[in-house]
Amino acid sequence: MSGAKGIYIIGTDTDVGKTVVCAGLMYLLKSKGYDPCYFKPVSSGGRDTENGFFSYDASFVKAVSGFDEDDNMINPFRFRIPVSPHLASEMEGFAVDKEIIRDRYNKLIEKYRYIVVEGCGGLAVPLTKDGYLQFQLVKEMGLGCILISRTTLGTINHTLLTVSFAQNAGIPIKGIVFSGFSGDDAERDNIETIRHLTKVPVIGVIPKIEGINVEDKALGELKSVFEKQ
Ligand SMILES: Nc1ncnc2c1ncn2[C@@H]1O[C@H](COP(=O)(O)OP(=O)(O)O)[C@@H](O)[C@H]1O
Ligand SMILES: [Mg+2]
Repeated sequence: MSGAKGIYIIGTDTDVGKTVVCAGLMYLLKSKGYDPCYFKPVSSGGRDTENGFFSYDASFVKAVSGFDEDDNMINPFRFRIPVSPHLASEMEGFAVDKEIIRDRYNKLIEKYRYIVVEGCGGLAVPLTKDGYLQFQLVKEMGLGCILISRTTLGTINHTLLTVSFAQNAGIPIKGIVFSGFSGDDAERDNIETIRHLTKVPVIGVIPKIEGINVEDKALGELKSVFEKQ
């Protein structure tokens, strides 16, 4: 399943801004006339509607970017409970099947020119009970990663560990995007220290956006912030 044009968006952690960045990136790519596809193989958390259960992440990306595709294609494994997929599969009675992810991925890269894959937390997250870790899926897809990091205390350690893990696994980190930057001096120093120590390009610094909330589908100034990036 390798050879596609696209990027895998990975986090140092959960709740670091992966969905916010995916939504902004999809919005920019679409407004520049590309035909991008969003793919979220495994998600947790979402809402019930009269048409079924949908993840917060895919719903938010669709609302921001105008991207539209069947959720069974772009988000095949949707857990309700916000715990690691290996545990959610036990609690909810279905497991992540990598053959199905492979099938959906291959169909999507046939149909679209560019794919933006949103990971589930970090590279070492177990997707199945038998220890299939997320970085193995990234490798199978043959994509490079953009790493999304926080700017607040703790981020140097998380970011350096993730970059080092990716390098050991032979996964290219094409760039780091920081999300939620407050303008604080200590946060600025975190960004500069990470840039210096990792030598990975910092390709975006997304400020703290007032009123943005993925679960509530609240966009705040997301579109104009990304237009300035
Ligand atoms: N740049 C930002 N400014 C303000 N809040 C943010 C920003 N990025 C993320 N958040 C907050 O963090 C929450 C989780 O972000 P999300 O993109 O869903 O994280 P992830 O996909 O990594 O789990 C969002 O609902 C939002 O409230
Ligand atoms: Mg997300």
